[in-house]
Amino acid sequence: MIIGRPTYFFESLASTNDYAAQLIHAKEPVEGTIIDTAHQTQGHGQKGRIWNSPQGANITLSIILRPHWLDIERQFMLNVMASLAIMETVSAYVANDVKVKWPNDVYVNHHKISGILIHNGLQGKLLNYSIIGIGLNVNQTTWPEEILYPTSLARLCSHQMDIAAVKERLLENVEKYYHVIRQNPSCAFEQYQRALYRRDEVSDIYLNDTHVRGIIRKIDPYGRLMVATIEGQQLFEVGEISFSKPL
Ligand code: BTN
Repeated sequence: MIIGRPTYFFESLASTNDYAAQLIHAKEPVEGTIIDTAHQTQGHGQKGRIWNSPQGANITLSIILRPHWLDIERQFMLNVMASLAIMETVSAYVANDVKVKWPNDVYVNHHKISGILIHNGLQGKLLNYSIIGIGLNVNQTTWPEEILYPTSLARLCSHQMDIAAVKERLLENVEKYYHVIRQNPSCAFEQYQRALYRRDEVSDIYLNDTHVRGIIRKIDPYGRLMVATIEGQQLFEVGEISFSKPL
């Protein structure tokens, strides 16, 4: 197992992604290095949002990878890897359908249980490093009002979970899917497509300033969302979509 060797653990840390970036620029951390904290105080979410987590409640960690073998045009496969690893982890505890809301969120019953924030460092046409930041709600059961539709394993299972056991399973799954996207990328890609949230349903989709009504059909090989609309097919570049008008 390469994932988690070494692991730097902090009782409290502003952001595991930030710490991982500092480590990469100051030293040469090996592939698989993890930055983990029990209490993230200034975590980053998508679109400049915050992703904080109460002391000891959730999984908030970042994994440093060196996917030199991955063509930069296929860097979306790292999102696929992280999403599948989280989905498999969550599915081990809950019976409900676990879905991936393109590109980076994991949903159960229309509620978000996990978010992923990936930062890729390029060197020319190669991927020099990738920081895979994962926030997975485990034992949190209440959230500030501004967090829309959150859930957690504890909420879904109606009891508190052994967070160390969940983390161990998650890291095993990351290791597993890191191999799968290298050895059998089309299989991983298909699995991701099958789990797409709201696939084949009519939806109002908002991305930045764009709004379309259409049907999510699939993801193209570059990670773009393909939506069938009345005017024909539209492609969305990787970004964050919402299904209701953003606040
Ligand atoms: C999102 O859904 O908005 C993405 C959330 C990503 C949160 C994780 S928690 C660990 C890592 N460190 C950060 O600062 N962010 C990511």
